[in-house]
Amino acid sequence: MAIKAFRSSILHFKEDAQAEYFDDGILLVDSETGTVQEVVDAKDQSSELAAKLDGVEITAYENKIIMPGFIDTHIHYPQVDVIASYGEQLLDWLNNYTFPTELQFKDPEFARETADFFLNELIKNGTTTALVFGTVFKESVDAFFEASAKLNTRMICGKVMMNRNAPDGLCDDVQSSFDDTQTLIDTWHGTGRQLYAVTPRFAITSTGEQLEKAGELMKNNPGVYMQTHLSENKAEIAFVKELFPERSSYLDVYDHYGLLGPRSVFAHGVHLDETDFKRLSETQSSISFCPTSNLFLGSGLFDLEATKTFNVPVSVATDVGGGTSFSMLQTLNEAYKICQLKDYSLDARQAFYMMTLGNAKTLQLDDKIGNFESGKEADFVVVDLESTPLMQRKQSKCKTLDEVLFSLMMLGDDRAISETYVAAKQVYKK
Ligand code: GUN
Ligand code: ZN
Repeated sequence: MAIKAFRSSILHFKEDAQAEYFDDGILLVDSETGTVQEVVDAKDQSSELAAKLDGVEITAYENKIIMPGFIDTHIHYPQVDVIASYGEQLLDWLNNYTFPTELQFKDPEFARETADFFLNELIKNGTTTALVFGTVFKESVDAFFEASAKLNTRMICGKVMMNRNAPDGLCDDVQSSFDDTQTLIDTWHGTGRQLYAVTPRFAITSTGEQLEKAGELMKNNPGVYMQTHLSENKAEIAFVKELFPERSSYLDVYDHYGLLGPRSVFAHGVHLDETDFKRLSETQSSISFCPTSNLFLGSGLFDLEATKTFNVPVSVATDVGGGTSFSMLQTLNEAYKICQLKDYSLDARQAFYMMTLGNAKTLQLDDKIGNFESGKEADFVVVDLESTPLMQRKQSKCKTLDEVLFSLMMLGDDRAISETYVAAKQVYKK
């Protein structure tokens, strides 16, 4: 029987960002196609539902909520070992910890082992899709996609393009970067569930010539993504100004080389002005808000409210290894605190919308993932509301769905993920 049923509380968000919550629901999936059939109310007494469930194996849960798989819009797989590196802000952190670590990915075996560990860490935290940085080494990206293809996760990844201001061993050149990227696009973009992102690291580590080639790759390959970093740290911004004195802002550097657009994802954007926000909005380029990283590296407080004011698409992400947790729940926790410091309250429904359908929309993947609409890919998580004694105690005091979700995002972490399913198949069980 290809149809499988999962009975539990179920939460997802509709197109209009409204929550649809079933206190006692049934998620029906087709395990052959890996897609969602529908979500129904288990209290429905109709003969129609009884007929649908006839002979179907039902897995039932208590004190759990089934949700769409979480989506992380900015993370570095080679930085698993960089996480929790003491004492530096962005530029010194890159030079002292990150670049030396990324040099190790010249070894494909090391890359393979790390990719497996990384993907396992993602699914253990309920994340089923991510927009991922590789390293400068082409083979490190092959290793990542091979590992993801084995799991059948929907992942977007790219080879880092960087040709200056980094150790020699970690720099490519304009032509090899262009050629390697094109080869990777041809091999991986649209192969199974894998997708490609053109990945200039940031304006500091690319010459204008290399950024121009990145723009060319975007033009030549409609449908691929672009990911980079933007206005994260004050010293970084000053350095970009020195390197590109002719450009009016950090964002204008990327704009000049044709790197803005609805498939472009800019990590951080902590220090932007009105002109930048307007340009991001005009081009529907998105910003990826990385709260644990912005706090850990002392980068600054992201202005989530401004993205709403200016209608800039915004998503939420971990940015491991600048970020300190793979857990999107912990990421929402820190996002909430940053917003508090900016006199804005990030409510739980908005937060859970963001890490599911909202993030899918910024990645232009909302036709495939993000909620349980019929026909979408059946990536989902079974979330345990009582994974610690404290959570159990706190949940028993919660009277509304908002309270349940808010407690979950403040207190939950990988322990709250009971099971993770990818295309209707179980890939993780606690
Ligand atoms: N800017 C350029 N590279 C990086 C990186 O690896 N992490 C973060 N947080 N910012 C960057
Ligand atoms: Zn990053």
